[in-house]
Amino acid sequence: MFWLGVTYAFFWLGGLSEAGKTTKDCQWNGTVSALDTNCTNINAPSGLILNGTDDIKVLYKQFAHVTTVTGCIQISGTTYARFDFFARLRTINCSNSSFTVDFMASNNSMLERLGMPMVQISRLGLTFNPKLCITQSEAVRFTNVQRGQSDNITICQGVSGNLKECSSTINSANAGLEDNCEIITENLYVDGVNNANISQKLQYIKEVNGRIYVRATTLTNLTIPMLQKVYGAESSYNTVNDATIYVVGNSNFTTLDVPKVDFMAQNDYSFLTADASYKMDQSLCNRLSPFGSVQSNGTVCVSTGSKIGTTASMALGLLACYFLYH
Ligand SMILES: *[C@@H]1O[C@H](CO)[C@@H](O)[C@H](O)[C@H]1NC(C)=O
Ligand SMILES: *[C@@H]1O[C@H](CO)[C@@H](O)[C@H](O)[C@H]1NC(C)=O
Ligand SMILES: *[C@@H]1O[C@H](CO)[C@@H](O)[C@H](O)[C@H]1NC(C)=O
Ligand SMILES: *[C@@H]1O[C@H](CO)[C@@H](O)[C@H](O)[C@H]1NC(C)=O
Ligand SMILES: *[C@@H]1O[C@H](CO)[C@@H](O)[C@H](O)[C@H]1NC(C)=O
Ligand SMILES: *[C@@H]1O[C@H](CO)[C@@H](O)[C@H](O)[C@H]1NC(C)=O
Ligand SMILES: *[C@@H]1O[C@H](CO)[C@@H](O)[C@H](O)[C@H]1NC(C)=O
Ligand SMILES: *[C@@H]1O[C@H](CO)[C@@H](O)[C@H](O)[C@H]1NC(C)=O
Ligand SMILES: *[C@@H]1O[C@H](CO)[C@@H](O)[C@H](O)[C@H]1NC(C)=O
Ligand SMILES: *[C@@H]1O[C@H](CO)[C@@H](O)[C@H](O)[C@H]1NC(C)=O
Ligand SMILES: *[C@@H]1O[C@H](CO)[C@@H](O)[C@H](O)[C@H]1NC(C)=O
Repeated sequence: MFWLGVTYAFFWLGGLSEAGKTTKDCQWNGTVSALDTNCTNINAPSGLILNGTDDIKVLYKQFAHVTTVTGCIQISGTTYARFDFFARLRTINCSNSSFTVDFMASNNSMLERLGMPMVQISRLGLTFNPKLCITQSEAVRFTNVQRGQSDNITICQGVSGNLKECSSTINSANAGLEDNCEIITENLYVDGVNNANISQKLQYIKEVNGRIYVRATTLTNLTIPMLQKVYGAESSYNTVNDATIYVVGNSNFTTLDVPKVDFMAQNDYSFLTADASYKMDQSLCNRLSPFGSVQSNGTVCVSTGSKIGTTASMALGLLACYFLYH
C-alpha cells in the first residue's frame, strides 16, 4: 500500500509550458539589464557574454525562468561562486562558428561549482577557474570538456570521498535515500508514514536540484541542517509549477527548519502549505521570502528586516488530491 500525491495548479494564464510558466522568447542585445522579464527562451546569435560587471542579484532575477539559450555562452573574469542564475537552464544551442565551445567559463577566480544542475553541454570550455570542482554527474552530463593544460578539474569531495549524489523516490521509506547523501539529483520526496530514520538520511544534504515535498507524513517537525541550495529545476518538460517547498496532507506537522538555505531559484511560492497543524515561524519566513512568497493557511507571511516585494495573492489555486493504492 502506498500514497501517490498528485497536484494540480490552475492559472488564469493560457499557454503554459515550462513549470507552469508561459513560454516567452526574448532577444539578448548584449546587456542583462535590457532583457525583458520572465523570459524562458533567450535568442543570442552573437553569444550571451557575461564579464562579471552584472550584480548577481540581477542575473538571478532576469534568468530565473530561462530554460533555453539559442546562442553560445561565455562567462569570463567574474567573482561568482556559482552560476546559480542558470538554475533552470537545460538547453544551449550554439551554432555560431566564431565560438569554439558551447559554454566557456574562464578566469573566474571564485568559481567553486558550476551550479547549473540540469543543463546538457556538449562542448564545455574550462580554463583558469582555480577553485572549481565538478560532481560525478556533471562529469557525465558535460561531454567534450576542453581545458587548459594547467587546469586540473577535480571531482568535488564530500563527507566521505566524492560528494555523494542520490535520487529520492516518491512514497518510499525515508525518502528512498541511502546514507550520506549530499546532493539530491531531482526532487526530494518526504512522503508517507515510514520516516523513522529521516533525520539521519537528511543530515548531510546540501543541495536539492529539484523541489522539496513533505506529504502525508506523521512527522511533527523536519530539519535539513546543511541544506543551502534548492534549484527548483527539472530535467524535462513539466507544466506544474509547484512551490519550491510544498508541504501538504500531513496530520501533525508543525515546523520546518532549514537554517542554512542561501539560494533558491526564484518561484511564485518558495514555501506553501495548507496543513492546519503547521505554524509559520518568522525565521523561516525571513529566510525563504527572498526566493518567492511564503504562504501558510492562505496567508503570505511578511518578512521582517528585509524589504518584501509585492506578494499580493497571485491568480493561483491549488488542489491536492491523494489517491490510495494497493
Ligand atoms: C563588460 O560587459 C559590458 C557589457 O555587458 C561592457 O559594457 C563592459 O565594458 C565590459 N567590461 C569589461 C571589463 O570588459
Ligand atoms: C539594448 O536594449 C536596450 C533597451 O531596449 C537599449 O536601451 C540598449 O541601447 C540596447 N543596447 C544595444 C547594444 O543595442
Ligand atoms: C512576471 O511574472 C510574475 C509572476 O510570476 C508577474 O507578477 C509579473 O507581472 C510578470 N512580469 C511581466 C512583465 O509579465
Ligand atoms: C556570431 O557571433 C559574432 C560575435 O561573436 C557576431 O558578430 C556574428 O554576427 C554572429 N553570427 C551570426 C550568424 O549570428
Ligand atoms: C539551433 O538554432 C538554429 C538557429 O541559430 C536553428 O536553426 C536550429 O534549428 C536550432 N536547433 C535546435 C536543436 O533547436
Ligand atoms: C584570462 O586572463 C588572462 C590573464 O589575465 C588573459 O590573458 C586572458 O585573455 C583571459 N581570458 C579570457 C577568456 O578572458
Ligand atoms: C594534474 O593532474 C595530474 C594527474 O592527475 C598530475 O600529474 C599533474 O601534476 C596535475 N597538474 C597540476 C597543475 O596540478
Ligand atoms: C531505521 O534504522 C534502523 C536501524 O538502522 C532499522 O532497523 C529500521 O528498519 C529503520 N527504519 C526505517 C523505517 O527505515
Ligand atoms: C497527532 O498528534 C496527536 C496529539 O499529539 C496524536 O494523538 C496523534 O496520534 C498524532 N497523529 C499521528 C498520525 O501521528
Ligand atoms: C524534531 O525535533 C527534535 C528536537 O527539536 C529533533 O531531535 C528531531 O530530530 C526532529 N525531527 C526531525 C525529523 O527532524
Ligand atoms: C487558518 O485560517 C483560518 C481562516 O483565516 C483561521 O480561522 C484558522 O484559525 C487558521 N488556522 C491556523 C492553524 O492558523
